[in-house]
Amino acid sequence: MTATSRRLVAVILAAGEGTRMRSAIPKVLHPVAGRPMLGHVILAAADAERLIVVVGPGRDDVAAYARSIRPDAIVCVQTERKGTAHAVLAAESAIADAAKAGIEDCIILFGDTPLIAAKTLASLRGALAAGLTIAALGFEARDPTGYGRILMDGDTLMAIREHKDATEAERAVTLCNAGLMAVDAQQAVPLLKRVKNDNAQMEYYVTDLVALARADGGKTGTVIADEAEVMGVNDRVQLAQAEAAMQSRLREKAMRDGATLIAPETVYFWADTIVGRDVMIEPHVVFGPNVSIADNVTIHAFSHIEGTSIGNAAQIGPFARLRPGSEIAARGKVGNFVETKNAKIGMGAKVNHLSYIGDASVGVDANIGAGTITCNYDGFGKFRTEIGAGAFIGSNSSLIAPVTIADGAYVGSGSVITDNVPADALAVARSRQVTRDGWAKRFRASKGKDKA
Ligand code: UD1
Ligand code: MG
Repeated sequence: MTATSRRLVAVILAAGEGTRMRSAIPKVLHPVAGRPMLGHVILAAADAERLIVVVGPGRDDVAAYARSIRPDAIVCVQTERKGTAHAVLAAESAIADAAKAGIEDCIILFGDTPLIAAKTLASLRGALAAGLTIAALGFEARDPTGYGRILMDGDTLMAIREHKDATEAERAVTLCNAGLMAVDAQQAVPLLKRVKNDNAQMEYYVTDLVALARADGGKTGTVIADEAEVMGVNDRVQLAQAEAAMQSRLREKAMRDGATLIAPETVYFWADTIVGRDVMIEPHVVFGPNVSIADNVTIHAFSHIEGTSIGNAAQIGPFARLRPGSEIAARGKVGNFVETKNAKIGMGAKVNHLSYIGDASVGVDANIGAGTITCNYDGFGKFRTEIGAGAFIGSNSSLIAPVTIADGAYVGSGSVITDNVPADALAVARSRQVTRDGWAKRFRASKGKDKA
């Protein structure tokens, strides 16, 4: 059987207290690239037919978040913290059910290792498919202090020794346990029930499964990962390190997919940003959630973009702020110091300077002059502004919503538009200019300052 035809149950441990975060928010809900750490882990285990999350008592927020990503997630509560094996056993009946249903692979993951990649989980499962009872994930640690040590004999994983239980010789080993582990699902529960807590911390260690499986004649081995991929987050300094690692992964992906990032280290992606080909992203651009960018788009420097879809060959910025619900159609232009929100900018339409376009639609090839404001809010409700195809809004106009400027209409600069403007009409809503010849000269003379 190949790894891919085997079925998977994943158990994510998320019952940690996260004390070192010093936060009212549970550790696993702290975001990396905007997405809570637990979400990254759940998505890495997307191949799991059944997904179990072990949470601490009263952690409805963690349970609810898990279900928002995986509505079918099975949530189990670990009432007391007695170690990693004890935590997995909080899911005993769910794992036993999965085994009964014939699921072959069980993977145990930690909710606070957000960088774990799906392909690493696939390698662990590959090792099970090749006949191992347990495959642990190891990494070469720059500083192994505190980690469990992976004790190998050739290709065989002999045991994992927790730092506190290790001898001096064992502590010299730099190959460390990442914590993630793949276990033959059929054997997982019986093995877990045999774990004892006769160790330095009086905890039930999931790592003891290795020795127990070997005692039964099972084969055990190690899959090696990069230290960066398995880093766990315990405090906010490590959270920032995980963020940096995730950002460089996202930047690299965007570039490999065909985007040019002139100064990649200054561009911040959200975990779900979609970037097309031949996209140019200038320095200092920040993406919030739910942004998709089609091909040939240029995003000029210092733009902030969230909840927006940007069509082919559109041009954004510099200094544009695109807020949720913005849709910029192909060849649309949104220039400097323009804010859009819940606004459709039609194909080829231009909003080039200093405007607020909110709760609005702008038709194909319309031109919105500098300083145009859609006045969408009266302190109570939000109202829409509709601007037709080919319409021309003169600079510094206020469009008091609800209002419609129909196709091809003109609005004179400086207008305050309160009534609908029919197609191809001109609306000017400002007082007429008054010019008084010689007035300024007479005024100065009255002040005794005439130099003329
Ligand atoms: C664990 C491993 C260690 C490995 C290290 C990698 C064990 C016994 N040790 O040690 O070999 O090098 O991770 O970082 O597994 N958790 C619960 N309930 C509990 C205890 C833990 O849900 O009762 C969760 C924690 O929230 C965390 C994970 O399990 O996500 C690991 O627990 P932690 O206490 O951090 O284990 P380590 O001592 O770091
Ligand atoms: Mg830890």
